[in-house]
Amino acid sequence: MKVMKSLFFAAGVMALASCTAQERVSTADEPADPSAIVLENIMTRVSVRQFTAEPIAKTDLQIIMKAGLQAPSAMNKQDWQLRIVSNQEMLNTLTGYMLNTEMGGMMKERMGDKNAFNNAAAVAFIAAETGDDATRWSQIDTALMSENILLAAHALGLGATYQAAPAAMINQSKEAKEYLKTAFGFPENVELVNIIIMGHPAETPAVKDRDQSKGRIIE
Ligand SMILES: Cc1cc2nc3c(=O)[nH]c(=O)nc-3n(C[C@H](O)[C@H](O)[C@H](O)COP(=O)(O)O)c2cc1C
Repeated sequence: MKVMKSLFFAAGVMALASCTAQERVSTADEPADPSAIVLENIMTRVSVRQFTAEPIAKTDLQIIMKAGLQAPSAMNKQDWQLRIVSNQEMLNTLTGYMLNTEMGGMMKERMGDKNAFNNAAAVAFIAAETGDDATRWSQIDTALMSENILLAAHALGLGATYQAAPAAMINQSKEAKEYLKTAFGFPENVELVNIIIMGHPAETPAVKDRDQSKGRIIE
């Protein structure tokens, strides 16, 4: 049974890599194997940084948010804050503040005519709570939340990329940090850890190889 599953999975990955998990579920003649779909989604996810101008449906953003909030966290304390922003005016305002930082000069050259988020249709801002009540693992919790978001976006046929550099840039700017509080409703005592840019893909990068020697099964 296990061998059959593995074979099914390997064949599935090769045959189905170019369509979304949703399409696979709805177009399969035979009932889809849920574990194969989940594993295939993990194995074919790739960072996408170029997007079309098409907005992301609100229902998809809600699914992505729910998937993020479903991540495990230390003692289930959920010491995180998540904002998914599709408001382009707000993203452009934030870009303005980011350009006023030390890293901003470098970013301006790379941005071209885009904003700091590659004109992504939506950006997830992921912060760790740092107050006295927070566990010391809140940054790790945000990483797990981030992977859930990346996988959910991929399952919905969207492209996404985890990015730490823009978060560092925001953290360098007093105005940007203030804007996260006033416009995005971030509370006090949070630290922005990363963002995730997402949108309909305008590029199809290949899945990158992983060094399999970094993992071992010890029996
Ligand atoms: C902690 C972390 C920080 C990252 N920061 C950035 C970043 O600032 N900008 C960016 O474009 N990608 C960033 N990435 C994405 C990685 O470059 C990408 O995941 C990696 O090259 C593997 O490629 P893949 O996601 O396509 O498998 C980051 C990823 C991680 C996990």
